[in-house]
Amino acid sequence: MSTVSGRRIIGVVSGKGGVGKTFVSVNLAAALADAGNRTLIFDADLGLANVDLQLGVDPPLTIADFLLGRNTIDELVVHVDNVGIDIIGGRSAAATLTSTSEQERRKLKSALVALGRSYNYTLIDLAAGIDVNVSDFFEICDTILVVLRGDPSSLMDAYALVKIVSHQMRSRIAIVTNAVSSSRDGADLAKYFADVTNKYLQFRPEYLGGIRADRTVDLAIRRQMPVYAVAPQCHATADIRELARRVMA
Ligand SMILES: Nc1ncnc2c1ncn2[C@@H]1O[C@H](COP(=O)(O)OP(=O)(O)O)[C@@H](O)[C@H]1O
Ligand SMILES: [Mg+2]
Repeated sequence: MSTVSGRRIIGVVSGKGGVGKTFVSVNLAAALADAGNRTLIFDADLGLANVDLQLGVDPPLTIADFLLGRNTIDELVVHVDNVGIDIIGGRSAAATLTSTSEQERRKLKSALVALGRSYNYTLIDLAAGIDVNVSDFFEICDTILVVLRGDPSSLMDAYALVKIVSHQMRSRIAIVTNAVSSSRDGADLAKYFADVTNKYLQFRPEYLGGIRADRTVDLAIRRQMPVYAVAPQCHATADIRELARRVMA
């Protein structure tokens, strides 16, 4: 299998918060890097930035430094040695900025596209919801990965999101289910969701797989490591690896 494929920008989104966007971003990035890809995570959840937290790094500079013209975008990149990925992080503790102007977003998007050329994959960990600080990034994403959980509000909010995304046809829209009780449950949930979008939006998102609920996830987050590093044999590790294979396919 060829592991190093084309350059791609993947936006990781969800209707509501707390569904596992950051967990998926960090662990998918780690799995892609493990397969030989140069991989970058850009933490675009400006208000609740926590990619740095899940990886145990403390980026000295933030997006604010770039937007204020103090630093170039590549000066913001921090290499996470033990995982083999690069990140541009917010700073979880400091609420540096929660919203951006259209001009700032334009500047950020073009810098990200330029920087992304030196990576096989750029993952953008976006904030929950559908406001313009999120949706404005869709146009630079080759793939929009919607993280879905089984509770009714996750489904409703994901529907609202997909409704907006489906209006711009540039990106591939794909679903990953998270914290599901079995692979079968994940597939059923994705099918249910696709049936609804098909009925009301005449559109079926692609299903890229499910990540099972696993106790090791909390452990990995507490230890600030990818889940494969704390539990190489667990369900979540196997599911993330499978997701990475499908992303690379
Ligand atoms: N597959 C999973 N199994 C068990 N718990 C999970 C799983 N994915 C996420 N979680 C839990 O959900 C919490 C929120 O995840 P996070 O990635 O911070 O969500 P988001 O970025 O969407 O707000 C995590 O702290 C973890 O406790
Ligand atoms: Mg998050």
